[in-house]
Amino acid sequence: MPLATSREVLLKARAEGYAVGAFNLNNMEMAQAIVQAATELNSPVIVQASQGAIKYAGLEMITAMARVLADGAPVPVVLHLDHGTDYKQNVKCLRAGFTSLMFDGHDLPLEQNIAMTANIVDIAHSVGLPVEAEIGSVLTIENLLTDAEMAEIRALEIPKQFEILRKKIGRTVEEHIAKPEEAKRFVDETGVDFLAAAVGSVHGLWLDIWPLRIDRLKEIFEATQIPIVSHGSSGVLIDQSHAIEKGVELLPGEGSLKDAIKVGYTKINVATALSMEFNRAMLEAAGKRPGEKDPRKLLGPARDAVVAKTKEYIRLFESDGKGGSPAASGSTGSLGGGTVARGEE
Ligand code: G3H
Ligand code: ZN
Repeated sequence: MPLATSREVLLKARAEGYAVGAFNLNNMEMAQAIVQAATELNSPVIVQASQGAIKYAGLEMITAMARVLADGAPVPVVLHLDHGTDYKQNVKCLRAGFTSLMFDGHDLPLEQNIAMTANIVDIAHSVGLPVEAEIGSVLTIENLLTDAEMAEIRALEIPKQFEILRKKIGRTVEEHIAKPEEAKRFVDETGVDFLAAAVGSVHGLWLDIWPLRIDRLKEIFEATQIPIVSHGSSGVLIDQSHAIEKGVELLPGEGSLKDAIKVGYTKINVATALSMEFNRAMLEAAGKRPGEKDPRKLLGPARDAVVAKTKEYIRLFESDGKGGSPAASGSTGSLGGGTVARGEE
């Protein structure tokens, strides 16, 4: 089916109490894997491209890949711009055929963030496209810790990792959480469709250990009444029942990704976890086949691994079975994977 807009899939998801995964693609294999996972689970899905991915693959290539994949899929597929940091990038994506935009003005003063977001909402709405924008700041781990600090932390047992992370970055993350009254004003004055409200997550974290401020998320959703977007989801604690084994001591008001879906999270962005899984499987295949000359023998297993990881997230978000296509359930997808016969090379 043709590319859907994020408005179509997210309003339905919010009304029915589940969330939709927004998975970052970096190359053709990841794009195929994401749509295959959604097809196999009969789930709507958002494929999203960061400015870095657009620079790497080219805007036309990204748009064409998403369009071809959506056309061949029996479930709704959305193409979203992730963290567009200026007006021009948003306009270029709108013209290219993206069906969902984002303006990320989190590092601007509030007044300017409101003015820029309102401009982009104006042009996007004039052609029926929805817009996401950010309030508060979802920080990035690479900007909070040095490479050496991260390597040191990652060598420790998981509970120790959490303890040190909390000590080193906890206060800074807390200071950047969005405020409900500002969020309400932002939504009222911009007309934005979805809100990337910072509620304690951090881009690029690992091991599903980081708790969210569920109390703040609830207040923001109640004040704004629009779907809230989760950024930095790869490192977030998935379920409160995992807290003890991971050494996560939940403070008052804190909770997990599952808790967050119940109180407003509707679009859940996942990038780091899929990229790491892609690299892990590709390197594993390379290790097993030293001297391999066919890149497909390394990229194929990486693609399969991303299908499996994406399916885990789709089940967690409970969007499986919500693709609106009974025929899609049990489908094996349509990738050209498998063994390459001699002569087809
Ligand atoms: O915009 C993309 C996301 O916020 C992804 O964050 O890399 O921590 O999963 P992540
Ligand atoms: Zn993000």
